[in-house]
Amino acid sequence: MKIFAYGIRLDEQPVLEQWGKEHSEVTVDFTDQLLTDKSAAMAKGYDAINVYQQLPYSRATFEALSNQGIHIMAMRNIGIDNLDLKAAKEFNFKISNTPAYSPNSVAEHAAIQMARLFRRTPEMDAKVQNYDLRWAPTIGKEMRQQTIGIIGTGRIGRVLIKILQGFGSKVIAYDCYHNSEIEKEGLYVDSLDNLYRLSDGISLHVPAVSKNFHMINDASIAKMKDHVIIVNDSRGELVDTDALIKGLDSGKISAFATDVYEKEVGIFNKDWSNKTFPDSRLKNLIDRPNVLLTPHTAFYTETAVSAMVNESLNADLSFLNGKQPASALKF
Ligand code: COI
Repeated sequence: MKIFAYGIRLDEQPVLEQWGKEHSEVTVDFTDQLLTDKSAAMAKGYDAINVYQQLPYSRATFEALSNQGIHIMAMRNIGIDNLDLKAAKEFNFKISNTPAYSPNSVAEHAAIQMARLFRRTPEMDAKVQNYDLRWAPTIGKEMRQQTIGIIGTGRIGRVLIKILQGFGSKVIAYDCYHNSEIEKEGLYVDSLDNLYRLSDGISLHVPAVSKNFHMINDASIAKMKDHVIIVNDSRGELVDTDALIKGLDSGKISAFATDVYEKEVGIFNKDWSNKTFPDSRLKNLIDRPNVLLTPHTAFYTETAVSAMVNESLNADLSFLNGKQPASALKF
């Protein structure tokens, strides 16, 4: 059995090699190149591929893979919004994702960003870098006195709720699918409008399905409390960047943290330090003292990376053995 892995970074390589040693019945080869309709040719002669989400996997990509005889794809990440599932079905693909590699990785990141913004540490850090060691006017707010609205109570949202409860924050939540634990705790509000109305801070943990596209827009921002703080560690498509910038300009949004950006493909995970920065709206956000940006690294912990590689290769192997891994996508 032969698996070909795309987009393998240096931090993933030792995990992949170790998995290969532990599964001598499988040959695992890899490239650092991302999967495209062109690089699909590299998978010729293999039985399955292993990928992570970065570029769109379009009809052309599925067709090119199918032409090489590949119909099994395990994704090392959670999100499936880059997949043309119609094409995947047309070309008889079996696909899995890795839905629980480490919910804590993203949840911790969101909690840290939220707390940093309430305590205004990005602004204080900038002052200190400039040897300005005065306290005022950079006064913070205590997390235990904030109402934090969590949109999306999947695995990540639920871990974040626990972390925020540790701070003593009042947590409220919204999701169209209710989780029984969160229900028992009585955290759900009955509408997004109510969550917007009541929250001092809002954290987004929903997928980029079409109904969530630009859910943070002029109209939803208008429903929020004045000086609200928003954290988006989910998908860039959830936030209308123009509306966000307007909200930051007017002070309606007092601070924003994000790990994603609606046009991040081709910009994130690249060094722009000595080059012209390619996106003026993103630059506008980065240059603000009350905006925290990380380049899609909320997931990026040793634990998560190791689980992503191991669990996705296990899923590849299950498919190859004619089984259905628990993380097989239904489409
Ligand atoms: C995901 O798991 O969906 C992420 O956003 C992480 C990234 C490596 C694609």
